[in-house]
Amino acid sequence: MSSFEEIWRSQSGIGRVADTGGYRRFAWGEADLACRRWFADQAVARGLAVEPDRNGNLWAWWGDPRAGDAVATGSHLDSVPDGGGFDGPLGVVSAFAAVDELRDRGVSPRRPVAVVCFSDEEGARFGVSCVGSRLATGVLDPHRARGLRDTDGVSLAEAMRGGGVDPDRIGRDDDLLHRIGCFVELHVEQGRGLVDLGAPVGLAERIWPHGRWRVEFTGQANHAGTTLLADRHDAMLPAARTVLAARALATELGAHATVGRLLTEPNGVNAVPSRVRAWLDARAPDEATVRRLVAALTDAAGRAGAEHGVGVAVSEESWTPVVDFAVDGGPFAGLARVLGEPPVLPTGAGHDAGILAGVLPATMLFVRNPTGVSHSPAEHAETDDCLAGVHALADTLEHLACR
Ligand code: GLV
Ligand code: MN
Ligand code: MN
Repeated sequence: MSSFEEIWRSQSGIGRVADTGGYRRFAWGEADLACRRWFADQAVARGLAVEPDRNGNLWAWWGDPRAGDAVATGSHLDSVPDGGGFDGPLGVVSAFAAVDELRDRGVSPRRPVAVVCFSDEEGARFGVSCVGSRLATGVLDPHRARGLRDTDGVSLAEAMRGGGVDPDRIGRDDDLLHRIGCFVELHVEQGRGLVDLGAPVGLAERIWPHGRWRVEFTGQANHAGTTLLADRHDAMLPAARTVLAARALATELGAHATVGRLLTEPNGVNAVPSRVRAWLDARAPDEATVRRLVAALTDAAGRAGAEHGVGVAVSEESWTPVVDFAVDGGPFAGLARVLGEPPVLPTGAGHDAGILAGVLPATMLFVRNPTGVSHSPAEHAETDDCLAGVHALADTLEHLACR
């Protein structure tokens, strides 16, 4: 068995749900903490020094953590609800396997190499994605982060404390950023680009700008059997209209819009809904299109609310500007050549590499996903393609850190 397969197996049972085959690894929950212990064990087994940073990201160092100009690689271990096993873990497992491959090759880094696991990338529990990298780079205000709450009312500050992170110390980490020269994230592809091109591995070109918005509809609870239709303030009706409007606007504008989460109160079969909270995820190739979609949707929601005597409030929960990865220039010059000129692909998915790209050079490798399905138990990558990914990552690290 390859080093990759062995490492893969050692984590693939954590947080796996028997009935769906998907993963529930929510930030700072039991499965996530088990993943973090797994990460530390893998590092220690390789003689890499493990250092959590102030924002709960875990770093495993091959070489002197204080030397500066490190080449960092890794991804995240948390998941969306019933997510696939590859989104995130493939990048972390491949990073450890690439270190093993470099050692097998007998090369040693002249720059430190760091394997990283970013905390809370998916934002499945507290609503904001890439919390660990956003905090470290100063993109997310620590005060706001501390106050984020999950559906049980637990704050991110409380959850982080439970994971051994002092929430009073979170925020931009210049000491850490000064030590990192560049970042490479390997990730399962979340579309069919590489399948269509017949290539196992590709390089990322850009990430679409994207964001999350909460749309809150406030009506009045009432009896489902006795309340005249004309007397109702049913929060579900404008919410339903808004979901359909999101789809229509996305079609019209060439964007992606998804309402994947709805919370209804009082959530009773025989009660008119008093409150519905809906979360919109909107993305497009350019920022102006996303903004147009959200503005038009806000208008549509407001009109639907007015028609039903329901209050509507829209608020932005996170925003990520477009990211153009430096594939050819700067520290990555020659990388495409080293990797045999792989395809270069854009993506609509967000990543920690996209956040880091705002403050330091970052790039991404994608590994083919035979169906393109992601954020689903059906997400997959063939072992041979994963091994090609590890090989490409090892070549990348050798190019960047060992020459
Ligand atoms: C992360 O996977 C995202 O794009 O939502
Ligand atoms: Mn994801
Ligand atoms: Mn991911």
